[in-house]
Amino acid sequence: MYLGIDLGTSGVKALLIDAGQRLIGSALGAIDVSRPHPGWSEQDPAHWIRATEEAIAGLKAAHPAELAAVKGIGLSGHMHGATLLDDQDKVLRPCILWNDTRSFRQAAALDADPQFRALTGNIVFPGFTAPKLVWVAENEPEIFAKVRWVLLPKDYLRLWLTGEHISEMSDSAGTSWLDTGKRAWSESLLSATGLKERQMPSLVEGTEAGGQLRSDLAASWGMGSGVVVAGGAGDNAASACGMGTVGEGNAFVSLGTSGVLFAANSSYLPNPASAVHAFCHALPDTWHQMGVILSATDALNWHSGVTGRSAGELTGELGETLKAPSGVTFLPYLSGERTPHNDAAIRGVFAGLGHESSRVVLTQAVLEGVSFALRDSLEALKAAGTTLSRVTAIGGGSRSRYWLKSIATALGIPVEIPADGDFGAAFGAARLGLVAATRADPLSVFTAPATAETVQPDAALKGAYEDAYQRYCRLYPAIRSAAV
Ligand code: XUL
Repeated sequence: MYLGIDLGTSGVKALLIDAGQRLIGSALGAIDVSRPHPGWSEQDPAHWIRATEEAIAGLKAAHPAELAAVKGIGLSGHMHGATLLDDQDKVLRPCILWNDTRSFRQAAALDADPQFRALTGNIVFPGFTAPKLVWVAENEPEIFAKVRWVLLPKDYLRLWLTGEHISEMSDSAGTSWLDTGKRAWSESLLSATGLKERQMPSLVEGTEAGGQLRSDLAASWGMGSGVVVAGGAGDNAASACGMGTVGEGNAFVSLGTSGVLFAANSSYLPNPASAVHAFCHALPDTWHQMGVILSATDALNWHSGVTGRSAGELTGELGETLKAPSGVTFLPYLSGERTPHNDAAIRGVFAGLGHESSRVVLTQAVLEGVSFALRDSLEALKAAGTTLSRVTAIGGGSRSRYWLKSIATALGIPVEIPADGDFGAAFGAARLGLVAATRADPLSVFTAPATAETVQPDAALKGAYEDAYQRYCRLYPAIRSAAV
């Protein structure tokens, strides 16, 4: 048996598979995000542990014998968070999350230092880890002075599980401190932010062993000794392992809190100017590119909060037949945007409202806005040398057939729906646990699920969607200049 633990932004998912990769069961533990100021987004790492314990307890109640038979664990987690520990491994402040944009000034200053783009292959985005540390140094110097370790969120869970300070390449590539081509920490980037390599965890590949489960935890979960904890992966690379998105040209679109257009690459293809992320994959000698939008289901959830209707009710009201865009345009920049704008200050917009703009019209505009933001990412990937001919959809938002039709039409490529199953980050993490524990060939494990259905672009609405996308593109510079 193999266990995947995915530390998501809104909860922990623990998922068990057997040696044949059949799903045994999964369980959840909830976590909140705290937003103490506009643009801030934080979590208390103690809640991650609590939520993991809750999820494992759920698995233990439903599948005690299978949980006891676990030989390998894989970890996945939301990326870029700064978890700061003192020399006793005590958490010094709440973790600053991936969608926190408070450090936009510090990010711009680091990004202006050419070595960052040259070595990391990426813009220094405000959500990345390094500018957060500069923010802490400038605003909370007494905390910065005590920082002994900087860990990514899932690696803090690993510390609790194994007692070891270890990370892996895919998540570390999102810190702005990794030499992404060499897959090693860059002493010079670290020192540009006042840090030393000794404050960083040691690095393994995602498919390698990265610690062993502590014996007291193993005993309390009924497991034997020697349970291997794999390096694991950042949530997007872990999802890619779950979806079999590991070979050149394979791609997925993820509709989670954030939205991601992810493409696997057999070589390192940085193109920071396009605002495309170029990160290490969870397998050795493999990289990936992705366009990231900060609010995907988060935009729908915001609309749901405002209207007092659940996301399911809102998308249900739209029906399944794709409509031509209504003329209402929505920019989903509720916490700023990464690809393609790298703009932490921009905020969301509804434009073109009229008396006839009902709740249903607004829901349609929200979904289209996210589809067009993903089209921006498709164009950015093209500029970075990757042309996609199809994508597979994953994430909570992919339950809406309307949204998938809208995405297929906005992107102009088919969107595949995987056959029933659970192929997300927790499943990918469990696969990583299997590979690390058995030393199986990752490519024979990370296979793609069968396609249940292919959603084709709606040819009749191609022109209307293109016009609406052009309106969408014109709105950003207009809002940008109005806001400045
Ligand atoms: C990727 C990113 C998000 C988070 C949260 O760069 O910031 O996808 O990993 O899921």
